[in-house]
Amino acid sequence: MKLKITCIPGDGIGPEIVAEARKVLDAVVEKYGHDMQYTDILMGGASIDVHGVPLTDEAVETAKSADAVLMGSIGGDTTTSPWYKLPPNLRPEAGLLGIRKALNLFANLRPAVLYEELAQACPLKQEISENGFDMLIMRELTGGLYFGERKTVEENGVRKAIDTLTYDENEIRRIAVKGFDIARKRKKKVTSVDKANVLDSSRLWRAVVEEVAKDYPDVTLEHMLVDNCAMQLVKDPAQFDVILTENMFGDILSDEASMVTGSIGMLASASLNDTKFGLYEPSHGSAPDIAGKDMANPIATILSASMMLRYSFDLDKEADAIDEAVKQVLRDGYRTGDIMSEGCEKVGCKKMGDLIVERIK
Ligand code: IPM
Ligand code: MG
Repeated sequence: MKLKITCIPGDGIGPEIVAEARKVLDAVVEKYGHDMQYTDILMGGASIDVHGVPLTDEAVETAKSADAVLMGSIGGDTTTSPWYKLPPNLRPEAGLLGIRKALNLFANLRPAVLYEELAQACPLKQEISENGFDMLIMRELTGGLYFGERKTVEENGVRKAIDTLTYDENEIRRIAVKGFDIARKRKKKVTSVDKANVLDSSRLWRAVVEEVAKDYPDVTLEHMLVDNCAMQLVKDPAQFDVILTENMFGDILSDEASMVTGSIGMLASASLNDTKFGLYEPSHGSAPDIAGKDMANPIATILSASMMLRYSFDLDKEADAIDEAVKQVLRDGYRTGDIMSEGCEKVGCKKMGDLIVERIK
């Protein structure tokens, strides 16, 4: 298969972790006889430094012309980096929001899995963690508060800020369909998370999700209020299969879910549109404090590359090879600093990439 990939190394640890993911992809491509070509684009702070904006039209066009996009991370230290002195629409994050919108990546899949090999890293009590868990957060990514009208005004000498939370039924329906489709391939349960006791947008969300559920009689649907969900994630994470939720709730809950796995450096994500096209990136951020020190954990990006092979190209065998190599490295006792535990061997970012490549060949 001939594959054209656009890479966004980005900021902070982004370039290091993308380099390792490419090493792993190259090994898989060679072993299974595919042809993968990469084109890099700048985004976030890296683009601001060169072009003065966090995302250019040319970069969007390059991404659009590829079969999929592999991203590292963007952004810097919000208190010290000069990027955060710029107006909000010129800061690194605006690049990420811009590419999500431009590529219509409305479905954000964020798996949160407790790896058996890393169970000690789970911060929950053992009586909870011993049940294991494997959930997928399906977060709506191009609507809601993130993309509603916003402004800051001054009225009679009083500053006032306004953000708007808007969803129409089509936006809700298409993400709900993605949620139910994926639940069908998993444990056949959807927990739709909203704040229907307060918000109109949530009441519409709930009504549309109910309508979509009628086409999936084999999938169990339950509704949960977002505050309760935040609590249930630490009380009994094993109850979840697919969590279906709007943009802002999904942002917050996915950080919480990844934290309870104890290994955010391991969690991949995919942002998809209506076609096979997707943008794949680790769930974690750019960790500017450890950037350039060969300390980052490249596994989340490597697993994102595996998701890319699986979801955009239906290359399941190749994706399995990556997932298995990662598990094997963990079983063999190698750890980066973030997932280090007693008795294991601590390795850097590059070495971790090499060890995974060795297990693919
Ligand atoms: C995420 C991040 C982004 C978001 C930021 C960087 C804009 O937190 O992907 O979860 O809020 O969506
Ligand atoms: Mg977030």
